[in-house]
Amino acid sequence: MNEQFKNDVLEGLSSNPKFLSSKYFYDKIGDDLFVQIMNMPEYYLTNSEFEIFSKKTDELINSFGIEDNEKFELIELGAGDGTKTKELLKALVHKGADFSYLPVDISQNALNLLNADLQEEIPSLKVKVRQGDYFEVLSKFKAVDVKKVVLFLGSNIGNLKDEKSAEFLYQLGGNLNKGDILVLGVDLIKSVDIIGPAYNDAQGITAKFNINLLHRMNAELGANFDLGEFKHAPHYDEEEGIAKSYIESLSDQEVEISALDKSFIFKEGEKIHMEISRKYNDEIISKILRDTDFKVISKILDSREYFADYILRKEA
Ligand code: AVI
Repeated sequence: MNEQFKNDVLEGLSSNPKFLSSKYFYDKIGDDLFVQIMNMPEYYLTNSEFEIFSKKTDELINSFGIEDNEKFELIELGAGDGTKTKELLKALVHKGADFSYLPVDISQNALNLLNADLQEEIPSLKVKVRQGDYFEVLSKFKAVDVKKVVLFLGSNIGNLKDEKSAEFLYQLGGNLNKGDILVLGVDLIKSVDIIGPAYNDAQGITAKFNINLLHRMNAELGANFDLGEFKHAPHYDEEEGIAKSYIESLSDQEVEISALDKSFIFKEGEKIHMEISRKYNDEIISKILRDTDFKVISKILDSREYFADYILRKEA
């Protein structure tokens, strides 16, 4: 049994207000639901960043500042299925760029699938998959004296609180050298009419994605959550720029978790906080970069200006 999961559930459900970490969304069912989310019409983030990678490829490549014939490594943190990145990879191969692509992911399975797909679609591409924790993998590369371009896309950083993102970027910078580039893909602050449906879709896929964590606790921790007695309760406040997701109890109820040898009381209307999806603007980006050596050298937007890829260079 995953001890960390057990301890985190105990801590979160014993707190007032209750919370659970969205990092536990991603079991096999959660991974599949997230793929469905990325393909939903309401979840504009995927298409917006895909548009940047497919239509502004030259601008993106030029922003890396790679000299003619300079060798470099393109490292992607959390590679997923590589749909967006493939656009960039194809353009780089077409230009005859001297580079290797290093997708890093926690899931060896995801890496194997991506590798097989890339070998078929872009046979001349040099791919070196790396399974593991981002920082462990990056620290091994620091000593390699080759320029690095790191991709951290999909507004994945937005699932961290600002202090944690600042810490993450600081640590990331510590594993890079002067002149290296970070492409940070982030969703931008905009009105609730656009952001609301992206986190509360008509088909109820996002609701299933959140409720799946209750199912996971039932399966892995021997809990007895009645999934029909809870609902997905998202919230977005434009002023604050953070989409938050909660699960709300529909009745007064008690849930037992046998792995914890404990029961928890939920009041009708009580909410468990599950996830934040931070939205950004220039001010928030400069705030989280304040203590790092990264400098913003450009920002590439999609045509609707929903999403931005910030190009950051390590200056020291
Ligand atoms: C992975 N992450 C960037 C997604 C997001 O938009 O925060 C996760 C997600 N949660 C609900 N829908 C998508």
